[in-house]
Amino acid sequence: MRSYDSIQHVRGESKFVDDLTAPEGTLFGYVYYSPIAHGKILKLSFESALKVNGVHSVVTAADIPGENQIGGIILDEELFASKEVHFAGQPIAIVVAEDRVSGHKGAKAIKCEFEKLKPILDPREAFEKGELIIPPKIFSIGNIDSAWHQCDYIIDGKVESGAQEHLYLETQGALAIPLEGEGIRIISSTQGPTAVQKTAARVLNIPMNKVEVDVPRLGGGFGGKEDQATAWAVMAALAAKKLNRPVKIILPRQEDMRMTGKRHPYSSDFKIGLSKDGKILAYQVWYYQNAGASADLSTAILERTLFHSTNSYFIPNVKATAYCCRTNLPPFTAFRGFGGPQAMFVIESAIHKAAEVMGVEPSFIQKKNLLKEGDEFPFGQKTENCRAVKCFEEAEKRFDFSSQNLRVKKFNEENKLVKKGLAVMPVCFGISFTTTFLNQASALVHVYTDGSLRISTAAVEMGQGVNAKIMSIASQIFSIRPERILIDTTNTSRVANTSPTAASKGTDLNGFAAMDACNLILERLIKVAAEVLHTDNSSQIKIKDELVYLNNSKTEFDWIKLINIAYIKRVSLSAQAHHATPNIFFDREKMKGNAFAYHVFGTALVEATVDCLRGTYVIDSVKAVHDFGKSIHPVTDRGQAEGGIVQGLGWMTLEEVIYNDEGKLLTDALSTYKVPDIHFAPKELVVHFLEDVPNPYGPFQSKAIGEPPFMYGIGAYFAIINAMKSFRPAKSIIYNAPVTNEKVLMWLHSND
Ligand code: MTE
Ligand code: HPA
Ligand code: MOS
Repeated sequence: MRSYDSIQHVRGESKFVDDLTAPEGTLFGYVYYSPIAHGKILKLSFESALKVNGVHSVVTAADIPGENQIGGIILDEELFASKEVHFAGQPIAIVVAEDRVSGHKGAKAIKCEFEKLKPILDPREAFEKGELIIPPKIFSIGNIDSAWHQCDYIIDGKVESGAQEHLYLETQGALAIPLEGEGIRIISSTQGPTAVQKTAARVLNIPMNKVEVDVPRLGGGFGGKEDQATAWAVMAALAAKKLNRPVKIILPRQEDMRMTGKRHPYSSDFKIGLSKDGKILAYQVWYYQNAGASADLSTAILERTLFHSTNSYFIPNVKATAYCCRTNLPPFTAFRGFGGPQAMFVIESAIHKAAEVMGVEPSFIQKKNLLKEGDEFPFGQKTENCRAVKCFEEAEKRFDFSSQNLRVKKFNEENKLVKKGLAVMPVCFGISFTTTFLNQASALVHVYTDGSLRISTAAVEMGQGVNAKIMSIASQIFSIRPERILIDTTNTSRVANTSPTAASKGTDLNGFAAMDACNLILERLIKVAAEVLHTDNSSQIKIKDELVYLNNSKTEFDWIKLINIAYIKRVSLSAQAHHATPNIFFDREKMKGNAFAYHVFGTALVEATVDCLRGTYVIDSVKAVHDFGKSIHPVTDRGQAEGGIVQGLGWMTLEEVIYNDEGKLLTDALSTYKVPDIHFAPKELVVHFLEDVPNPYGPFQSKAIGEPPFMYGIGAYFAIINAMKSFRPAKSIIYNAPVTNEKVLMWLHSND
């Protein structure tokens, strides 16, 4: 089963926003942004920009007919900075020009005077100064204060994890086309078409029904376009309205890197208490989330951090406190895992440190504390179909943990300058938007008289394969060839009120909606077939491989004939359906509830080799046992697992986002920001599908796959530091990701 677009992709025929044939007269918008991280705008002058050849206009906050406001959850973010700037890279204006080059020249000609203010870059400093976007959030279970007395070991520590650049291949962009009346059509590279529609309506001061947002596909999103595709789309729309010309904005890579938010950096403190036999009895943790200059999705991300504070483990006494700290950096945003990975890195660090103090392997503590059926999470949900132990034990057996340990031990005894390390990484990830109302989607299905289908849903294809899965679902429901099915672009006029394609819920939500719509049509077709085959009992009718069967024997009717009879009989061949995930809720006063439809489980074993002279390393292998449920599309699922793992490795190892002490991004190009490539990818990458594990809460018993495998990458951090540790066993470990070559070298050879 190939992917939906694979042939087009390979031929280079798939079109992304910048490849679309733009209408005649399309102008180009070039963003002018703040060069400083914090300051007052004293004077903005763009007269000289208007004199640049090819420049038509400069669009600023003053041109906005509606509100200068793009905040998604909290209304705290201007489209164009009007009085103050809060981060370097914050948009102030766009220059609208005949082409990119004159746009760029125009932007360079803009002069802006600022009164510089001191930026806050560190979340703990923001916390000290009371710069919290929302009040602290706390999850707790048991009684943390009385639990410490029962512990034989109490270990505390500090953990840092860095930002991560999304580096989607297609940079942010949009094309806005003014329509008659007040209308506007926006073609956007967004994961959230409705977010774009709603915000454009707010900024332009027109009703949502006059804004059509169309999303053909994304060259990657990874969360970076859940909220942060909106600004560019709205700027293009605003300029298009002002000039009554189509306007396109495509961010150049470097400016995309400077202007957009990334994965949130976190600084955390933990305290963990264990019994002699390795049971975790108490865990207290404080997360200082660096939210950047405005809320964006930070509050929801912070909550998902809390939801994942205990990863795959049952801990009876937990208190997790999270602070959403406002700083003068670009608003950090959704990135695969949505705050979950940051939480898991902290608990895994706590376990690692505890293991060192206790003189045991971390995997001993991990295994001892795995979630079992019916165990309660700190937010009150109990596990169901819990596969934490199953995955761990399958991995332990399949990848033979004990002989790998012996081999690595022996290798380290025999080698002085090259050391190996192993680490086990269990993962338990909750599936559902934690913002409960977002767990809904709709689908619209048309069957045409030649037997072909066109399906629209709220799902955005960003390379994750949701189209292939929806095609596969529809082809199974009707029992027709997948080639008959076209998955349409995501369009707010065809499918309204879309939740972003995020939280790994794309297939669950839209697949179920498509399934329901297909079933509505199928029921009608079966009724038609029963009529023409003169039976009252429609359960005797089946469609199989495009043929109509009566009581299991072939009839003269096939798919196309049946469709045509239905049409002649004036039976509707279109259907719309809406799906909402049942039985989930979350009470924000008590911070308790069944937030997730289900959990995804898995365990990975990671091996790394460190060259202790140079500080370089390779990831030898990542081997995972993963609970895919019953996969709808195994090739896609495997691709998601492999891609997610490599992206997770990148976050933990190479990818270091550095801002200087003035809040300016230093790593704004691929020469300074290193991402994993095929040479860095593990030499051996094994993903074993856990067998015989249907999921009653997913379409055709499948499970979501988009985000969970990312977190196996966390194992690489520990594999590398374990190798380092065997070079200098007496030196204490630091938990500060990413563990770049530079950091490895410093740790191995510095005398602190
Ligand atoms: N895979 C590709 N190729 N490109 C992407 O942008 N985004 C990831 C994941 N896998 C992404 C991807 C993220 S962050 C999420 S939430 C899911 O896909 C979203 O799609 P799904 O809900 O259909 O799994
Ligand atoms: N995941 C991804 N995006 C979201 C979520 C979530 O849980 N909640 C709100 N937006
Ligand atoms: Mo994914 S971070 O939920 O877009």
